[in-house]
Amino acid sequence: QDIPVIAIDGPSGSGKGTITQMVARRLGYHLLDSGALYRLTALAAQRQGIGIADIDGLVRVAGKLDVAFLPTPPGEPARVLMGGDDVTADIRTETCGENASRVAAIQAVRDALLQRQRDFRQAPGLVADGRDMGTVIFPDAPVKIFLTASAEERAERRYRQLLDAGVDVSIDALLEEIRARDDRDMNRASAPLRPADDAQVIDSTGLSIEEVLEKVMAAAGQA
Ligand code: C5P
Repeated sequence: QDIPVIAIDGPSGSGKGTITQMVARRLGYHLLDSGALYRLTALAAQRQGIGIADIDGLVRVAGKLDVAFLPTPPGEPARVLMGGDDVTADIRTETCGENASRVAAIQAVRDALLQRQRDFRQAPGLVADGRDMGTVIFPDAPVKIFLTASAEERAERRYRQLLDAGVDVSIDALLEEIRARDDRDMNRASAPLRPADDAQVIDSTGLSIEEVLEKVMAAAGQA
């Protein structure tokens, strides 16, 4: 494959989503938010009454996801449609993130979403955001970045986001959730969250978004 891919992996709250959008916009590349596919699978399953133990049901749902990602103005998250329904807000809830992380631990579900993710690789290039972009989905990606931040900083960022959205939560509860999610994502048997051997690790703790963007662009050889 000649089409370049910039793989950006890391834990939730590391700023991957925002950075991926900014890099894609700067380079005029396509964008893959792979976490959204797991969130959509979890949401569709929940709406169809399919439980976490029904692996065949989950695989069917994952294989038949009818989704569209619509472009939005800079800074706004992409609008996500499922079966024509706007589910942008529904897939961003804490519950959906939790369910996504459970669904994502099932290898058969990951297999069902594999080719769909690779299909996003189109000219002039792709910026792909996830947990296993550099290790499993695009092992030949010329640029692999692993973006991290301390759990405390990630909880703090999420706390501020939720406050801005008018949701009042306890920061301690968020920190607990982040630790539990990290633990599940890093210690699962299928595609565990870890840096690819050839990934460049960037720690965003204490850095502004602009500072992280410059580091990522430099790592991508595009600064
Ligand atoms: O990145 P995001 O928080 O939207 O991902 C939701 C969940 O989906 C993660 O907690 C992770 O368990 C799972 N995921 C994954 N592999 C990816 C992207 C997300 O397992 N490539």
